[in-house]
Parts: sequence; C-alpha cells; structure tokens
Amino acid sequence: MRGMMQQTNPKHIVLGITGGIAAYKAAELSRLLVKQGITVQVAMTDAATHFITSATMQALTGRPVLVDQWQDDKGISHIQSTHAADTIVIVPATADFIAKLAHGLADDLLSTLCLARNCPLIVAPAMNKQMWSNAATQRNVQQLIADGVTLLGPVSGIQACGEEGMGRMLEAEELARDIVALLQGSETLDRTSLPLTPRERGLDGLNILITAGPTYEAIDAVRGITNRSSGKMGYAIAQAAQELGAEVTLVSGPTALSHPYGTLVVDVTSAAEMFDAVKKHVDSADIFIGVAAVADYRVAQSSAQKIKKNGGNLTLELVPNPDILAYVAALPNAPFCVGFAAESENLREYAEQKRRSKKLPLLAANLAQQAIGADDNELILFDDAGEHPLPRTDKLALARVLLLHASSLYHKGKSK
Ligand code: PMT
Repeated sequence: MRGMMQQTNPKHIVLGITGGIAAYKAAELSRLLVKQGITVQVAMTDAATHFITSATMQALTGRPVLVDQWQDDKGISHIQSTHAADTIVIVPATADFIAKLAHGLADDLLSTLCLARNCPLIVAPAMNKQMWSNAATQRNVQQLIADGVTLLGPVSGIQACGEEGMGRMLEAEELARDIVALLQGSETLDRTSLPLTPRERGLDGLNILITAGPTYEAIDAVRGITNRSSGKMGYAIAQAAQELGAEVTLVSGPTALSHPYGTLVVDVTSAAEMFDAVKKHVDSADIFIGVAAVADYRVAQSSAQKIKKNGGNLTLELVPNPDILAYVAALPNAPFCVGFAAESENLREYAEQKRRSKKLPLLAANLAQQAIGADDNELILFDDAGEHPLPRTDKLALARVLLLHASSLYHKGKSK
C-alpha cells in the first residue's frame, strides 16, 4: 500500500474501548489502523466486553487484549508496555469514562493506563444527546480540553435509542483519518488508502470565517451589557463547515461551548475585539458568515473600578459599535458574505431589508426569541432568487443545509 506509515515511522497506539453501543465501530477502526501499518494494542473496560468481544479485537489486531487490572502483576507491566505508545485513543468514550478522565480516576486498567500515560490522549465521545448536553458532561469535556486532550466528535445524528441529536460517534473511517493525521501530520498522511469522508466533499480548501456568540460590553470592572446568544448556531456552522472540508476560523464571543474540533478559534469579549479579529483574518477568507449577536452599542466610558451606588440615578451613555458584517461586505475584495437577522417581529420584511442594505448575497433570518439559546432553530434563507424556508430542526442539521446553499451560490458566482 503506497505511503503506509510503517515504511517511514512505525506507530503504536493503545486503543481503549469503553462500554457503549458504538463499541462495534472500534472493530472497523482497528482494522483500518492496522491496514495503515500501525500497531494497535487494545485495552477494554469490563463494560466494553458486553458490547464487543475481546476475541474479535484480538483477531483484528493480532495482539492479546488487555482487560483485567488484577491479572499477572496488577497491570504494572501493561503500564510499562503502553509507555511505548505514540498515543492512546478512546473509542467510544462514554460519559462515565470521560468523567473518570476529567477527575483523574484510575479504578480499572484502562483508566489507569490513561492516568499513567506519557503520550497524547485522543477521545471519541459517544452517548445519548441528553447525556452529552448535561452540564456535568460539558464541564468534564471542558476539563479534558483544558488538559490538552484531543476530542474527535461527537456529531449529531440518529442515536441507538432512536432519538436524533448530538452525541453520535464519528464513523470509523473519519476517526482513522483523523488519528493518522494527528499521529503523523496531515502532510504525510496517506490519503489514498482510506475512503472519502463527508468533509472531503463540499467546501474543500475554502477558508471560512465565522463570528459566533454574544459580545460583552463592559460598564465597569464587574458589570457589562450582553445578550442571551449561546453560540450554538455559529459553532454548529463551524463544525459543519469543517466536516465539509473548509478551513474554519471561528471568532467567538464568550460562550460555554467546547471548541469545535479542527477549527481555529479566536476568543474575544467585546464587539471591538471581535471587529479586530475579523479584520485580522478576513483577507484570507473566501466566505464570511456573521452569526454573532454583536452588541449594537457599548458604553462610551467604561469604568476600570466597580461603580459605587450613590442612591441616585445612574445614566450610561451608549455609543454605536462598528457593524462588522457591513464592513466586511463593503470591502473591495469582499468574501462571499452570509448575514443573519434575528428579529422579534416582521421577520421577512426586516430580514430582506437587512440583506439589501448590506448588499448580501445570502441572509438567514430567525425569530430571536425562538432561536437564541435553543438547540434547534427554524431559518428562512433570503437570496436573489427569493426565500427558502428551512423547517425547525437541530442547529447542526440546519447549518449543513445553509452551508450547502451558500457553497452552491459561492461556486455559481465564481463560475460567472
Ligand atoms: O447563539 P445562539 O444561542 O445559537 O443563537 C443564534 C442567534 C439567534 C444569535 C443567530 O441565529 C442569529 O440570529 N445571529 C445574528 C444575531 C444578530 O445580531 O442579528 P442582527 O439582526 O442584530 O444583525 C444582523 C447581522 O449583522 C448579523 O449577521 C450580525 O452578526 C451582524 N452584525 C450586527 C451588528 C454588528 N455590530 N456587527 C455585525 O456584524
């Protein structure tokens, strides 16, 4: 096989499997990794053996599977043997195992190997959507990211329980591709020996700049003006754009969300900072999507100290913030611009007015009170051909449709 990893730099990974229904995908993943010349040492939790047998994994990897912490010398030789690993990959990672990792627990062989590792850790979460969105899981995920753990996925889709939402594990082909890329760097990746992923069909090679979330305009040292944007819509667009092959830069106001995998995230606080970050990145952007709920006004003179109460009224002078989208759309070599409009009434009329006044080829309109903070949304797309309503569904699904529409308009414009 051309470009197999073993020809240049043999790699060794520990593939940890935890107890979730997506464990079956670990079999195909190990097959793809072994095919790439990678040595795969499987370590399973006891729960994982209820979903897939160690015999299957042993047959696919050609190595005995590690399960029992208490066999032989209480796992010490296993810990030493994993010190040869280039990375540990947990596929699937259940909510329970993510919690263990976040808290440094080591009460079975796999969690002990993770805690005792001296190599990077990659985690592919898989769980029910409620478990994924639970504040405890999100807190644990944030902790893993802060600890330098790489997260692959999850994505939104149909789940084992029949529900649809965020928490589905990436497919084995996508995981194999990402793991190989992370091991060797994308430039040396043998891209011919694995099937195409969705990410390679669509926005391939395009640079997409996205703003997301709210902005925070300081009044004084501890108070400010902000809004209820969660960032979910913008982050979903960033994730979908990355899946479709784009290079994504996400300029994000303050949110509680984890950074979408594979995107460059520039964290900002105020509209002025968001404007600066956009100006810095806009030159290389092919498409700009303004999803952020940017504060229209900021306090003229914010106080460095906490303003003291004096019993009387307090008047704040507000001055307008720059309109970032209008600025980008008016640039001489403007990228293809997609605007959003959040309206609480007269949605169609105000949205189309916004699109025309900012001369945007595409604008997505939503009802502010239904869209902001929610997991799902309903959009009406406005372009030169008219309006295209998209029914209420989760934000990632909407993001994918929006991007396919934007991509087709972008390519049509380029071919003129
Ligand atoms: O973050 P979520 O909780 O998921 O909620 C999603 C959302 C409701 C915030 C999102 O879907 C949305 O509608 N974003 C645009 C919100 C907004 O500020 O709309 P607007 O109508 O005020 O602004 C119109 C457009 O100009 C937007 O593309 C906005 O990003 C942009 N703008 C506005 C003001 C400003 N100073 N600079 C800008 O770039």
